[in-house]
Amino acid sequence: MQTCPLAFTNPISQALGALLLLAASLSAQNEGWDVPTCTEGVVSVSQGTNVAMSCNISNTFSLVTITLCRLRENKTIFHNVSQGRFSRDDWQLWVQGGVAQLLIKGVQDSHAGLYMWHLRGHQRNNRYITMEVSGAAVPGNARRSSSQ
Ligand SMILES: *[C@@H]1O[C@H](CO)[C@@H](O)[C@H](O)[C@H]1NC(C)=O
Ligand SMILES: *[C@@H]1O[C@H](CO)[C@@H](O)[C@H](O)[C@H]1NC(C)=O
Ligand SMILES: *[C@@H]1O[C@H](CO)[C@@H](O)[C@H](O)[C@H]1NC(C)=O
Repeated sequence: MQTCPLAFTNPISQALGALLLLAASLSAQNEGWDVPTCTEGVVSVSQGTNVAMSCNISNTFSLVTITLCRLRENKTIFHNVSQGRFSRDDWQLWVQGGVAQLLIKGVQDSHAGLYMWHLRGHQRNNRYITMEVSGAAVPGNARRSSSQ
C-alpha cells in the first residue's frame, strides 16, 4: 500500500524512498526519465462544478495509484490501474500513454483533500495535488433573506 505524506517522515520510509530513488536512477540510465508534470499548486473549485487534474509523463504509464489523503480517512480511489478508462464513485480516471487525467463531475466537500498520485512508468514518482472545495453561491439563500 502507498501511504500518505506524513508517513514519509519516519526513517524507514525515508530509507526505502532512497532505495527506490537509487533503483530508479539505475534503471533510468538506459530507459529515459519519466519527468512527471502534474497540475500545479492548489486546485480551488466551487461546489457543484466539474474539475480535472492531470499528471503526464514522457514515457508510458504502467501503473497509476491515486489516494485521497484526508484528516479522518485515507482513501485509495484507484489502485494500480494501467491504460484505459476507470471510474469509481464520482471519480473518473483516464490513462492513455503518458497522460493521466482525473475528472470529478459536480464536486462536493467529500472530494476535497490531498490527492497523492503514485506514478509508474520507467520510474516511480509520487506527486501531490491539493483540492479545495468552497461553498457554492446558492441562489435560494439570497431570495430567502431578501424576502424576510
Ligand atoms: C500494486 O501496488 C502495490 C503497492 O501499492 C505493489 O506492491 C504491487 O506489487 C502492485 N501490484 C502489481 C500487480 O503491480
Ligand atoms: C497533460 O496532457 C494533456 C493532453 O496533452 C493536457 O491536456 C494536460 O494539460 C497535460 N497536463 C499537464 C499538467 O501538463
Ligand atoms: C492517513 O495517512 C497518514 C499518513 O500515512 C496517517 O498518519 C493517518 O493516520 C492516516 N489517517 C487515517 C485515518 O488512516
